[in-house]
Amino acid sequence: MGRTVLEALIGWIGGLEDAPAENTAEALQVAAKLEAEPPESGDGDFDGLLEDAIAAARHTYEFSGPGYLAYIPGGGLFTAALAEFLAQGLNRFDGLWQPSPAVVQIEENVTRWMCSLFDFPAEASQGLLTTGGSLANLSAFVTARYAKLGEDFLDGIYYCTDQTHASNTKAATIAGFSRRNLRLVPTDRELRMEPDALRSMVREDRVAGRRPFLVIPAVGTTNTGAVDPVADIADVAETEGLWIHVDGAYGGFFQLTDRGRERFRGIERADSVTLDPHKGLFLPYGTGGLAVRDGAALRDAHYEGAAYLQDLPSTGALPNYNEYSPELSRDNRGFRVWFPLVLHGVAAFREALDEKLDLTERLHRALAADPNLDIGWDPQLTVVPFRLRGADETANRALLARINASKRVFLSSTMIRDEYWVRACIVSHRTHADRVDECAAIVREAAAGSAG
Ligand SMILES: Cc1ncc(COP(=O)(O)O)c(C=O)c1O
Repeated sequence: MGRTVLEALIGWIGGLEDAPAENTAEALQVAAKLEAEPPESGDGDFDGLLEDAIAAARHTYEFSGPGYLAYIPGGGLFTAALAEFLAQGLNRFDGLWQPSPAVVQIEENVTRWMCSLFDFPAEASQGLLTTGGSLANLSAFVTARYAKLGEDFLDGIYYCTDQTHASNTKAATIAGFSRRNLRLVPTDRELRMEPDALRSMVREDRVAGRRPFLVIPAVGTTNTGAVDPVADIADVAETEGLWIHVDGAYGGFFQLTDRGRERFRGIERADSVTLDPHKGLFLPYGTGGLAVRDGAALRDAHYEGAAYLQDLPSTGALPNYNEYSPELSRDNRGFRVWFPLVLHGVAAFREALDEKLDLTERLHRALAADPNLDIGWDPQLTVVPFRLRGADETANRALLARINASKRVFLSSTMIRDEYWVRACIVSHRTHADRVDECAAIVREAAAGSAG
C-alpha cells in the first residue's frame, strides 16, 4: 500500500506543471458521489480508496502548481511530505519532552533557528510550531494579554490597521475581547501603519483610563504585501510599554533575504513574530510558526498543571510544548520542517525567496507597462494588486474570470478601501519566470479584451 501511494504521488507531482490551475467545474458532482457512511465490514479495496482520494484532489484549485497565485500559496514541498509520512508512521508523541527527547530536539532545532532569525536571545526565547498562522497569532495574543494585563484585562486596548489579517482580531475575540478593545491605526499611501497616529491614539486611550497593551504590525499584509515600519512602531511601543507582535505569517521568512532584512528593520525588537513554514518555506498546509523573545511569558500564558502528567517533568533541557501552547496531543511537526532544511540547506530557501521577490518585480513591470491596467502599489514583497483602469467592480470581476478561465494561472481578488482589486501573489517554489511571463500575457490579453 505504501509503494502504491508513493507511486501515485510521484505521478501527481510530475503532472503539476501541466495540470489546470483550477478544476472545480464538476467538483460538487464528485463530492456527491463520495458522500458515504463507513461500512460495518471493510472491503479491503485499497486501490479503490486511493482512486477516490485522488479524484477528490483532482477536482480542486491546483494549490501546489506553478500557476497558483491566489490568496497566499502554500507550495507543498515533496521532501516535507515524505518526512510527514515518516513522522505519522512512527507516531511519536512530542507534546512533552520526556517520552521522546530526541524527537523534541529535532523540532527544537527548527524553533531555535526561527528565533535566531530575529536575533532573539538564545537562552530566553522559545519558538513553537503550530498548525498555521492563525493559531500562532492566537498564542501570541494570549501571551501579550497575560504579560501586559494580568487576569483583569477588559480595559486593555490593542492596535492594528484595516490591513491586518483577520486572524488577529479573531484571536482577540477568542481571548475574551470585543471590538471596543480594538483601535484601527490609519495607514499611509502605501497601506503601512502610521507610527505617529499610533502614538497619539495610545496616549488618548491612556488619558481616558484605558490600558494600551499590544500593537500588531505586519511584515507582509495579505492584501498587498505591505510592510509596516517596524522600527518606528517599536520606538512608540517601547516608550508606551506595548507588546509588539509582528504578523509575519506570510512574509516572515523573507527575513532570510537581504531585501527582507532591510525592509523588516526593527523586527529584532519585537516581542513575538508569527512566521509560517507552510507559506515562506513552501511546506504543505498545516505548519505555522511562532517565535517569542521571552519564552517564560509564552509559558506563563499557557501553563496548566495536571496531576495525571506528574510523571513527566515540567523542566529540563527541552520544553514541554503543551506548556507553551493550547495543545496537548499533537502531531510531531519537527520532521517536516527539519528534513527540507537539512536536505536542501538554508541557502536554497533564501535563493527561492529572492527569486520570488525578483519575479514579483518582473510581473509588476509587465503589468505597469499596460495602459489598460491600474497598478495600485509598488510591490513591498510578492503581491501585485491591479485592476482595469477606469472600470467598475463588475468589469473587474469579469477580468478576473477571464484570467482564471485560462486555467494556466489562478488569481484571487480583495477589497482595499472599499474598492475591488485583483491580486497575484507569488510564493510557490514551483513558480518561475516562464509562468510569471505567461501570467502577464494572460492578464494583458484579458485586459485588452475587457477594455475593448
Ligand atoms: C498576514 C497573515 N496572517 C495570518 C494568516 C493566517 O495564517 P493561516 O492561514 O496559516 O492560519 C495569513 C494567511 O494567509 C496571513 O496572510
